This record gives sequence, structure tokens and C-alpha cells, in this order.
Amino acid sequence: MATKVLIATDKPFAPVAVNGIREIVEAQGYELVLLEKYTSPAELIAAVADVDAMIIRSDKATKEVIDAAKKLKVIVRAGAGYDNIDLQACTDKGVVAMNTPGQNSNAVAELAFGMMVYMARNFYNGKSGHELKGKKIGVHAYGNVGQNVGRVARGFGMEVYAFDPFMTDEQIKAAGATPLHSAEEMYEMCDYVSLHIPATEKTKKSINYELLNRMPKGAVLVNTARKEVIDEEGILKLMADRPDFKYISDIAPDNAAEFAQFEGRYFFTPKKMGAQTEEANVNAGLAAARQIVAFLEHGDAKFKVNK
Ligand code: 3PG
Repeated sequence: MATKVLIATDKPFAPVAVNGIREIVEAQGYELVLLEKYTSPAELIAAVADVDAMIIRSDKATKEVIDAAKKLKVIVRAGAGYDNIDLQACTDKGVVAMNTPGQNSNAVAELAFGMMVYMARNFYNGKSGHELKGKKIGVHAYGNVGQNVGRVARGFGMEVYAFDPFMTDEQIKAAGATPLHSAEEMYEMCDYVSLHIPATEKTKKSINYELLNRMPKGAVLVNTARKEVIDEEGILKLMADRPDFKYISDIAPDNAAEFAQFEGRYFFTPKKMGAQTEEANVNAGLAAARQIVAFLEHGDAKFKVNK
């Protein structure tokens, strides 16, 4: 029986990416199976039953899904954040989990600026707004997306600062930003803060009232990371206390309706859109397919994220 590779995407890739993945998979003599826009976890669980490998996006690879995938050897998250995969369940079953770091990061960075300009120009409602030039932007975590944000910010003429505890000052400087040594220091001095931290037990709800309240008047928080890193109660209280504070996010918070009272000071994309470009779909999707082939044919597990 041919090796089966499943693409399971609630939010589908562009067709050009699916075609590219198909070419890679079929050139190897494997079979490609496609599950898009599924409406229940049960559909995903049924689809994984006999696959050897799978490619997902933000799709939830829970323990139930991993356990149901009796033949699964490798699962690749076509993208950066793998908080949607139960890594322990993968490890317990000897499944290798991978991501495709960097492949969709320019798309996410571009969307961050799309949202910043949209907010700075009052949603294009005709009222006088602001420019990004000359403003200070703090990039919270200076990895692949963060560095793309830094690059575009320099193009806008912004002053770029970064806080990343996993990088040295030299690395941050070489990547075009001024290093700062604590989140507190960065939030105190920056007009804009762009979030690029992963959602982990340590970071969840870490962007809270106390931290955000350090930001200067007219500050804007830009979230193209995960909603889980935000302390929603804290940000709602801050927006009530500070009529100058604005929040833009590439994913609606759980209590989106509660933000309606702050009209003109928030914007949420209707569906997570950061990585939703043909280019990012091709980059991440094809990388995922190649990583699957490299792993199944040669045991190459370079991008493994479970230990
Ligand atoms: C990522 O972690 O790579 C981004 O959040 C993109 O997620 P998506 O593939 O679900 O759009």
C-alpha cells in the first residue's frame, strides 16, 4: 500500500500550494489525501486513521487525533507555532512533530503593518490620523516574524527596539534593532509593541494590565501571535481606564463582544489571516512536504519540535 500523506486544513492553503505539495508527494510514489474546511473534530479523527504523515496548520492535533492515527510517523505544522499539537501524545506514540520555521513570517509581518496603518488612519474614515514614521516600535521576541517586522518598520522610518531573552545584544543589533533587556523597559518606551512570543505555559496571559499600562499615551498593541498570551480581563480594564490605548489583533479575543464599548480603538481580523497568502502557503506547505519526504526517506528530523 502506498504511503499516505494527509493535508488537513480547516483553513485551506491556496490551490497553488496544494498542487505543489501534491507534486512533491506523488513524485515519491506516495498518495495525497485532502481534508479541507472540515466542520468537526470527528471528521479529522476519521481522516487520520490510515495515514503515514500529515500536514496541518492551526488545526488541533489533540491526543485523540494522534491516538486515532494508527500508522502516523510524522506530523508537520506548516507554520511556526505548534501550540496546537499535543507533543506529549506524539512522543508517547513515537510520532515526530515538526514545524516549518520562517516560511510564513513575511506574510505575518506585512499583515501587522496593514493593521497598524489601518488603525493609524482611523480605518480610512476620512478623519486626520497619524504616521508611523518617527514612532518607536518594540518587537517582543525577535525571531523570524519579529525580524521581518523590524525590517519593514525601518522602511517606514520607525525606531526599532527588540526584547528577546533568547538572543544576545549582538544578534539583535545585527538584525537591525536596538536591544532592550526587559519587557518592562520596552513597553515603557515604545508607542507600538508588536507581539511575537509563542503561546507556552509561561507566556499565557503574560501580556497583562501591569505591563501594558507602562506604555506611553496613545500606545498601540499589535498582536499577530496568539490570543492566549493576552490577559483579556487585563486589557479590557486597561482600555476602560485609558481612553488613549488601542489594540489590534490578527485573531479575535474570546470575549470579542466586550470590546464593542471601545469603538475606534480596536480591530480584529475576522479569521486569523497573518499567514494567509499564496506565497506563505507555498513556502510553508512545500517545506512541510519536503520535510516529510526527507524524514520518511532519510530519517532527517531537523525540524523536530517534540523531544
Ligand atoms: C503560525 O504559527 O505559523 C501562524 O500563526 C499561522 O497560522 P495558520 O497557518 O493557521 O494561518
